[in-house]
Amino acid sequence: MPATPRTARPRHYLMCPPTHFRVTYAINPWMDPAKPVDTDLAVAQWEDLRDLYLRLGHRVDVIEPLPDLPDMVYAANGATVVDGKVLGARFRNAERAAEGPAYLDWFRSRGYTETLDPVHVNEGEGDFLVTGAWVLAGKGFRSAPESHAEAQEFFGRPVVSLELTDERYYHLDTALAVLGPDEVMYYPGAFTPGSRAVLERLFPDAVLATAEDAAVLGLNAVSDGLHVVLPEAATGLAERLAARGFEPVGVDLAELLKGGGSVKCCTLELRPAAG
Ligand code: ARG
Repeated sequence: MPATPRTARPRHYLMCPPTHFRVTYAINPWMDPAKPVDTDLAVAQWEDLRDLYLRLGHRVDVIEPLPDLPDMVYAANGATVVDGKVLGARFRNAERAAEGPAYLDWFRSRGYTETLDPVHVNEGEGDFLVTGAWVLAGKGFRSAPESHAEAQEFFGRPVVSLELTDERYYHLDTALAVLGPDEVMYYPGAFTPGSRAVLERLFPDAVLATAEDAAVLGLNAVSDGLHVVLPEAATGLAERLAARGFEPVGVDLAELLKGGGSVKCCTLELRPAAG
């Protein structure tokens, strides 16, 4: 079967440099405060990712990192933006609580008028992933189940709840990536049987990741419809994507993996209002 022809669509991203990145607390199993972190190396790897997006023709805005928020580099968690509407984040852990208002302030100061400071805990695009037809929403570790209804009401898009079961894959974006309007890749082992059945029903042709590819956070990837930027260690996934007509682009974000995040975690997509 010949691979589907693919086209890239230019995207608008928000990123936050890891100027103050370090691992001083552990709120996911990837984080070990005893393990040294090279902040300069983290910055260099992050700059490579930003430069790659620019070379691929995307627009990248940058939010100023705050010194007391070492996890602020994971911009995906800062909000969810659909149709130009900004659903703010409310973090589960006190260590990250101040990031929610910091990101919301950025949007308000940039002229975004439709914003919502949420009632329920949601960690932005860590747990909300947008397809053409739906918002896929993760729960189990971070975002509260009630946040799914809150997002559906605010965006007016159907939200599909998915339950995560493996603490290594604590955010939906560590277990699933959106590749195109109705294409995804995911690691079945990260979901409950019922959620797996939902994914099989919605996406019968999904690219499935092996345990090995998931364990290097290979699913923490960003697609523009053609290029799929993913951790370079996820070689099996890269082959599967190429066989489907995508162009996988591997990057090294090893320092940021020590905080439990990779490509997608560092990237918040700003989806404009239609028209
Ligand atoms: N240390 C951060 C946390 O545990 C990592 C967040 C990763 N971001 C993501 N979108 N999965 O909250």
